[in-house]
Amino acid sequence: MPQAETMVQERDLRPPVEADPAFLADVIDGLSQRKKAIPARWFYDRRGSELFEEITVLPEYYPTRTESGLLAAHSLDVGRIAGPGRAVVEFGSGSSVKTPLLLTHVDASAYVPIDISGDFLREAAAGLSGRFPDLSVLPVEANFMQPVALPDEIADLPKLGFFPGSTIGNLVPRSGVNLLRDMIETMGIGAMLLIGMDRVKDTDILTRAYDDSAGVTAAFNLNLLQRINRELDGDIPLDAFKHRAIWNDTWSRIEMHLAATRDVSFMIAGRHFEMGADETIHTENSHKYTPRSARQLLAAGGWTPLREWSDDKDMFSLILAEARPEPTAP
Ligand code: AVJ
Repeated sequence: MPQAETMVQERDLRPPVEADPAFLADVIDGLSQRKKAIPARWFYDRRGSELFEEITVLPEYYPTRTESGLLAAHSLDVGRIAGPGRAVVEFGSGSSVKTPLLLTHVDASAYVPIDISGDFLREAAAGLSGRFPDLSVLPVEANFMQPVALPDEIADLPKLGFFPGSTIGNLVPRSGVNLLRDMIETMGIGAMLLIGMDRVKDTDILTRAYDDSAGVTAAFNLNLLQRINRELDGDIPLDAFKHRAIWNDTWSRIEMHLAATRDVSFMIAGRHFEMGADETIHTENSHKYTPRSARQLLAAGGWTPLREWSDDKDMFSLILAEARPEPTAP
């Protein structure tokens, strides 16, 4: 068989990358606005998830190691306050790396990791079962941004939600409050929630955490454009974009943007887009909290803080809160 023919055949046999309609809609809508923006959840394809794992061990990225230290130091306290027999429900469990720190000291009767990425979820669940053979591990593949139906097996157990990483910070307050309320819908009144929330701090420390010297965060941000090109039939020239991380003091958040370095035009799924030099695509918010703003957000979502822990430099906080019946109050 002539070589050219073989090559054509191989090309035709390659399975087409199927476009996720929700991804397509978010990208087209987001880039059609006057201020271009794409939701941060689309960072996490396989490559993006790998790059995020690399971010968590960067010298400049303090949140992961600080929160792990807090969990190691205070999980015993959490276990004392929560009491034995709760089902631990983790929202956006990912690779579940922090979970053992909690499960070692909390006498849980079940562990329910919730994640939208089924592959990651099953791998992580298998790993956890190996480490805690007596624990019933019940993974749920779902989007935790909506109320989630928990497994019947844990219907009558009290719940302890686990939401580490300051992932809540990706959400603007209105969405964060909706999520916190949905968590009560999911777990019920009487549930507790252990949540990690990153603190407001020196602006240089914050911006460096999101613009590291090794360029991993830049690669993480730019991977979104590669993902669009790959999955949504795009031709965005990557060399026309630069990673940018800025502190927005008004809204108390780090913003990540992809800034056009020149006038640029490109196609995505048959549609044409244009951007002027220095125009940006806003790709992520990472809100930072003071002790008060953290409590306020939790209270707005229906959660009453019970205990809080922070490291000696006040870089990061862990808060244990409880969903109490709505009180009569002035
Ligand atoms: C996973 C949302 C907590 O906001 O710090 C890290 C994601 N983005 N570096 C964060 C992220 C850039 C991270 N969260």
